[in-house]
Amino acid sequence: MRIAIIGCGNMGGAIARGLAADKEFSSHNTITVANRSQEKLTRIQAEFPDLSTTTSNVTAAGDADIVILAVKPWLIETVAAEIKPVLTARTVIVSVAANIFTDALAAIFTFPEGHCPVFYVIPNTAASIAESMTAIAEKGATEAQRNFIVDMFNRLGSAMILEERLMPAAMILGSCGTAFAMRYVRAAMEAGVELGLYPAQARHIVAQTLKGAAELLLSGTSHPEEEVDKVTTPGGITIKGLNRMEACGFSHAVIEGHKACR
Ligand SMILES: NC(=O)c1ccc[n+]([C@@H]2O[C@H](COP(=O)([O-])OP(=O)(O)OC[C@H]3O[C@@H](n4cnc5c(N)ncnc54)[C@H](OP(=O)(O)O)[C@@H]3O)[C@@H](O)[C@H]2O)c1
Repeated sequence: MRIAIIGCGNMGGAIARGLAADKEFSSHNTITVANRSQEKLTRIQAEFPDLSTTTSNVTAAGDADIVILAVKPWLIETVAAEIKPVLTARTVIVSVAANIFTDALAAIFTFPEGHCPVFYVIPNTAASIAESMTAIAEKGATEAQRNFIVDMFNRLGSAMILEERLMPAAMILGSCGTAFAMRYVRAAMEAGVELGLYPAQARHIVAQTLKGAAELLLSGTSHPEEEVDKVTTPGGITIKGLNRMEACGFSHAVIEGHKACR
């Protein structure tokens, strides 16, 4: 497949890096990255010399079987108007633009013979290291196209096809969630430094502990509270810490923060 990624910012760059680093994928597919300005293209090209790069969206899209749109949501219509003359109704469109749903994408990418197969996809920036959580909704795709796109995002971490009505919730948990997790890490690091650790030590301990906690859940089916039970000795220090966090509004803050993203 020939894949064009339009927009080489946080998200487009993460997808391009993740796919380029997958030797099996990149040896069977060609990836071209387009960006408005040259600087990010020069950087990614230095990291992955096999990638093609261009400042022309038309050049990238004209050759592509799959076009991944990774520009800001308000630029989707402008970029679409620019590249539509070189697309056909068979071009697979994958948009990562937040809150631009498949009906809107299908309407934008309509040709006399029908609309393109369209995917509304919400990955996160860990795509660059093949650890993204990616939610996918789709309209008009064949089973083969759906399988290809799901496989592509599974290579970048873990992908899940969802009913489109669930995409906003998935975006809050899976995409905004990166920032929420980082803020937890920052707070725990600050506590660690107050407790005497150097920041780099605290950063490593917190990040590895979070990774281990996540792996405990991903490798099995336990509820988080079962894992909490294993860590909380009666009368011990962990339960004291948890109870103080709850008294300070930890769970309430997390739930309200997620709901505020709606
Ligand atoms: N960041 C996330 O975690 C995340 C997660 C899920 C979905 N998304 C979605 O991903 C999309 C991109 O977000 P982002 O965070 O990656 O933004 P970003 O870092 O600002 O990247 C956007 C890129 O698009 C380029 N660009 C702007 N106009 C262009 C044009 N006309 N043609 C070609 N390239 C153009 C910009 O180039 P310059 O270098 O010239 O500015 C920039 O490199 C958004 O729609 C967002 O909703 C983001």
